[in-house]
Amino acid sequence: MGILIPIGSGKGGVGKTVVTANLGTVLAGYGKTVILVDLDLGGANLHTCLGVRNKHPGVGSIVWKKEKKLENLVVETGIDRLFLVPGDNLLPGTANLDFFTKRRIMKELQELTADYVLVDLGAGASYNIIDFWLMAHNGIVVTTPEIPAILNAYAFLKTAAYRLLFRSFSKGSEERERIAEFVVNRVEGQGDTFLAFAESLAAGGGAKGAKALEEITRLRPRVVVNMGAGQEDATLAQRLREISSRNLGIGMEYISYIMRDPYVSASLSDRAPLAVTAPDSAFVRGVRMAAERILKAPVSDAPSLELDDEDLFSIIERAMDEDTAPAM
Ligand SMILES: Nc1ncnc2c1ncn2[C@@H]1O[C@H](COP(=O)(O)OP(=O)(O)OP(=O)(O)O)[C@@H](O)[C@H]1O
Ligand SMILES: [Mg+2]
Repeated sequence: MGILIPIGSGKGGVGKTVVTANLGTVLAGYGKTVILVDLDLGGANLHTCLGVRNKHPGVGSIVWKKEKKLENLVVETGIDRLFLVPGDNLLPGTANLDFFTKRRIMKELQELTADYVLVDLGAGASYNIIDFWLMAHNGIVVTTPEIPAILNAYAFLKTAAYRLLFRSFSKGSEERERIAEFVVNRVEGQGDTFLAFAESLAAGGGAKGAKALEEITRLRPRVVVNMGAGQEDATLAQRLREISSRNLGIGMEYISYIMRDPYVSASLSDRAPLAVTAPDSAFVRGVRMAAERILKAPVSDAPSLELDDEDLFSIIERAMDEDTAPAM
């Protein structure tokens, strides 16, 4: 089993895929064996960033039950120690993976043999994406420094926090109902924060409650700010840190600040990652910073959470239906 690093983003087009490809290349350059997995099932393009031809079966083979083992889908990238499990553009995103397929892919990810397994997720915070992202306490969130992207990064973390709390309790439990109720009745900016709510829920939730709080405090997202433009970016990044800590009780680690670099789009036709063709570019220097942080990080175990097919939003919908049902 390798160290699993899922890579997500609230907003699309912020650079997850180029960062994943180059981070993998840099880690491989440091002597680590790395498998990159393209789980962006609606817009798989990790192979393009690596210059791997799109002729291999990918994760879709698992989805369509043609293949059981992710391991059998691993292909070489032409870069020493760097391997790829290609994606498939079969589905509009990971949103509609069924529960059993998701569980199988999760199990398979944990069984891949490598030092690092980097997983490029689709953009957004649908609950399947969040579940993959919650396979580690310190998954990466990529954002750009603009306000919409920062807000989306916060929304991503908030959804992850709720999902983690939700999955700390059993299917059909009273706690899950209370979480749904809290989400429905909450008015943004008023009343209890997520953190205060989680604490009160945990206080009445016995051992599971205590465990839930522990998992929340252990969550430590790694944030990469990509396409940076300069000094002012720091203020917004700082703001993200403050609101996440205050409202969600989630501390984060900024592992890299990567400049906007014209080399990135110019290199797309090279069919090789920039880390190979331009190792001294500003972009690759930023990626190297992230890689060095990752190499130094202590190994952390995966959050231990319930895994079932109940979704917070399905409970909310059910509750709403009950509320709006005509009185008999
Ligand atoms: N630091 C950078 N400087 C300049 N261009 C960049 C930088 N990072 C990414 N890009 C460009 O931004 C575009 C989006 O990058 P990428 O496809 O990696 O984003 P993504 O988050 O994976 O998108 P999606 O959500 O669609 O999967 C690409 O054209 C890429 O070349
Ligand atoms: Mg992408």
